[in-house]
Amino acid sequence: MAAPNIETIVSLSKRRGFVFPSSEIYGGLGSAWDYGPLGVELSNNVKQAWWRWMVHERDDMEGIDSSIILNRLVWKYSGHEETFSDPLVDCRECKSRLRADKLEPTLSESGGAAVYKCPNCGSTDLTEPRPFNLMFRTTIGAAAEEDDPTALAYLRPETAQGIFINFLNVQTTMRRKIPFGIAQIGKSFRNEVTPGNFIFRTREFEQMEMEYFVRPGEDERVHQEWIDYCHQWFLDLGISAANLRFYEQPKEELAHYAKRTVDIHYRFFPERAEEERQWDELMGIANRTDFDLMAHSKKPERDGERVNKESTEDLSYFDEATKERYYPYVIEPAAGVNRTVLAVLMDAYSEKTTDKGEKRVILKLHPRLAPIKVAVLPLAKNKPEIVSTAKGIRKSLQPTMRAVYDDTGGIGKLYARQDEIGTPFCVTVDHQTLEDEAVTVRDRDTWEQERVKISELAEHLRKRLGINC
Ligand code: GAP
Repeated sequence: MAAPNIETIVSLSKRRGFVFPSSEIYGGLGSAWDYGPLGVELSNNVKQAWWRWMVHERDDMEGIDSSIILNRLVWKYSGHEETFSDPLVDCRECKSRLRADKLEPTLSESGGAAVYKCPNCGSTDLTEPRPFNLMFRTTIGAAAEEDDPTALAYLRPETAQGIFINFLNVQTTMRRKIPFGIAQIGKSFRNEVTPGNFIFRTREFEQMEMEYFVRPGEDERVHQEWIDYCHQWFLDLGISAANLRFYEQPKEELAHYAKRTVDIHYRFFPERAEEERQWDELMGIANRTDFDLMAHSKKPERDGERVNKESTEDLSYFDEATKERYYPYVIEPAAGVNRTVLAVLMDAYSEKTTDKGEKRVILKLHPRLAPIKVAVLPLAKNKPEIVSTAKGIRKSLQPTMRAVYDDTGGIGKLYARQDEIGTPFCVTVDHQTLEDEAVTVRDRDTWEQERVKISELAEHLRKRLGINC
């Protein structure tokens, strides 16, 4: 089972400390959310899992961490200043601002051409669509006036450009030969017209992007390999295949740089009656061709004139093997951290009824992602020997796995709380522990319990978690 809707996850997140509405004491801030103690662990675990899979476990990958604010010219030549916009319409009736491409057409009463209605008030009195650039603007320098064009800068709307402008730095310092990739995780910012659906669409979010540089002509084959490889990553994180699908972007949806893009969709909206509307993007895997490296190069000429007069570098590559110079093609898997966190939470959500008929929530998170790997619980918190033994066990586990101690309720309540936050194992210290030096290990998913010697506990848990913590 998975969560029946995003609302279920919103309330679980707030109740248990995964995600809180941002600036709530001042009435909130539209689409902004803050990660709480468990959310930051989950999100860090997602990023670590991605980095390990994408960078550490491959031989053809390097990582970087570039600036959020780049020279404005980066966004001029990447095409974002001109084209990174959504079509905006205003409802003249209720003044809502809407994305024209997200409006659902309905048949007109006369049966003629389809009409578009405001989803908030039903009015058909909408303005003509006009482009709205999604980049957040800022100014650089203490003395800069807000409208000074020489001081204008943007918060990056994708991490990718920081990679392209460092292509030569990485390639030469790391002595890389094509094919190879550069990965980056970091914040991006988009002034979305209609943010919403919790952490699905926000104005500040995090991306995990990788640009893979290949020889032109190899691009289509390598693109398909990355599509399959990325799909497998989500499966390996425990997301069910039934809630994932591929979406081939039609030509009219392609970004200005893309030759082909396949998205991996997750069923974020299972409650929607129409199947097609249940899905939305979790990750995009684009073939960006040689667009970006060429756009940022001083070299290419059109009609005898340099296209980019401001770049000081030529980002072409000399291939020793084939003795050719070319602009590498780029395959780009780009995932959202926040959307991965949301998909993982939704997919892990399950409910179980106890023998007494009580409903319990169990978050069946992959052990690698679980914020807490083990909770050590004393059966009697008024027994000093039990408490000190439990705290001693927690301390001994902490260097190798995230372990916590909790004595704030009866054992049933403590188990229920750990199930709801996805802790794979609970370790209970009881009266017998003081005699046999063994503890009870309880499994989150099966609720089965077994007795394990304290001296063997760390190794036992490591094996059952199945990961290098
Ligand atoms: N460099 C390519 C690029 O940025 P994208 O499809 O616009 O491609 C990649 O973004 C991923 O970033 C998306 O699949 C999504 O997971 C995430 N993302 C994009 N906009 C977002 C937003 N407003 N809020 C949360 N995540 C977002």
